[in-house]
Amino acid sequence: GGDSRVEQILSEFRLKKEELKEVMKRMQREMDRGLSIETHEESSVKMLPTYVCSTPEGSEVGDFLALDLGGTNFRVMLVKVGEDEEGIWKIETNNQMYSIPEDAMTGTAEMLFDYIAECMSDFLDKHHIKHKKLPLGFTFSFPVRHEDIDKGILLNWTKGFKASGAEGNNVVGLLRDAIKRRGDIEMDVVAMVNDTVATMISCYYEDRRCEVGIIVGTGCNACYMEEMRTVELVEGEEGRMCVNTEWGAFGDNGELEDFRLEYDRVVDETSINPGQQLYEKLISGKYMGELVRLVLMKLVNEDLLFNGEASEQLKTRGSFETRYVSQVESDSGDRKQIYNILSSLGVLPSELDCDIVRLVCESVSTRAAHMCGAGLAGVINLMRERRSQEDLKITVGVDGSVYKLHPCFRDRFHKVVRDLTPRCEITFIQSEEGSGRGAALISAVACKMAACLL
Ligand code: BG6
Ligand code: GLC
Repeated sequence: GGDSRVEQILSEFRLKKEELKEVMKRMQREMDRGLSIETHEESSVKMLPTYVCSTPEGSEVGDFLALDLGGTNFRVMLVKVGEDEEGIWKIETNNQMYSIPEDAMTGTAEMLFDYIAECMSDFLDKHHIKHKKLPLGFTFSFPVRHEDIDKGILLNWTKGFKASGAEGNNVVGLLRDAIKRRGDIEMDVVAMVNDTVATMISCYYEDRRCEVGIIVGTGCNACYMEEMRTVELVEGEEGRMCVNTEWGAFGDNGELEDFRLEYDRVVDETSINPGQQLYEKLISGKYMGELVRLVLMKLVNEDLLFNGEASEQLKTRGSFETRYVSQVESDSGDRKQIYNILSSLGVLPSELDCDIVRLVCESVSTRAAHMCGAGLAGVINLMRERRSQEDLKITVGVDGSVYKLHPCFRDRFHKVVRDLTPRCEITFIQSEEGSGRGAALISAVACKMAACLL
């Protein structure tokens, strides 16, 4: 009957442990290929050196400005970095959120960076510090090929950004030019980091074992401390350097074809960057709601849901927001929340409909947690192999709306990571204001010469 057909459709989202192990192995293979000079170009996982390394160098104290571009919100922050008797950092932050208008995201790079400079100017005005020339740390959450901590070109946009004339150019240069064009502020851009890196650094201050950073939000990505000798793209053998994996692009060379479902193909084909970020599209918040909507439409079309009829809204791409997935799965059991969401989308569900919608959300978000867990297990097992340690104790700093706001994502994710990493003891810590603090801290270090912190 209908029940078992629904079950059959949703069972495609379930991954066995063996399959997750296979995903993990393929991820590790791509990571190794990304690190090696010979195969780096063709690898889907780019493994980008960040020039954040493990040799301590000492750092400056004082006021820093931090920018955070690439998550749900664009933020400008003022961060005070200080030291007390024990040599521990004291950090205070003051931040403001700005929304990026759609036309700045998809217009020209000049428009986007002019808007960023305008927000900075507004922020400095409000805090009466426009006259100051502050060092600036820039959290820029996209794939960047660095030449140094304060220099690197944008490889390609992800997550719905598309501003023309940015890809292939030095991002810090674009920012400096925009600041110059305005002429009313002065900034000393000292460091640019990915959000995963900023998250790891900020958590490192709470826990010196934090050598991995991960984001599960609009996008999905991870960074970790790799042995210098295996980071072949950078000279030097000693110590460790943080590598931004850009694992969201895993699968772009076909490594996930046997796992991708019809819904994944539609999400990809209708996205702004078809064929790119295929692993990210299975997991992150930018796509999760739409995946659920496509499954609901499939069930409607097979006459298994809503009496076989969908509302115009439900037929519209993007109408099922990712936050609804969290809300549906938070429903206490009385179906009230589910009912309200569905009626706001123009359908009047029966109790059975509500239960099916919940199962769909659970299927999509659980697969996301498991896929993501397999990736992280790959990173951690790789680190343990490199360090030839019997047991690895490690801390992972995490941020992002899916991880923080979904009611069950984190537990399902932690469980898979731990299941796949025997002989590793993993602590997860959630970063608070990670990007602002992380960018300021690395800037403080960069100010004192080499960008070496961990
Ligand atoms: C924020 C960080 O808290 O999380 C950002 O400050 C990061 O740097 C973001 O990009 C990721 O989550 P989301 O859900 O906003 O994409
Ligand atoms: C995308 C970006 C990556 C970022 C991630 C999380 O995958 O390419 O740089 O870290 O989203 O925001």
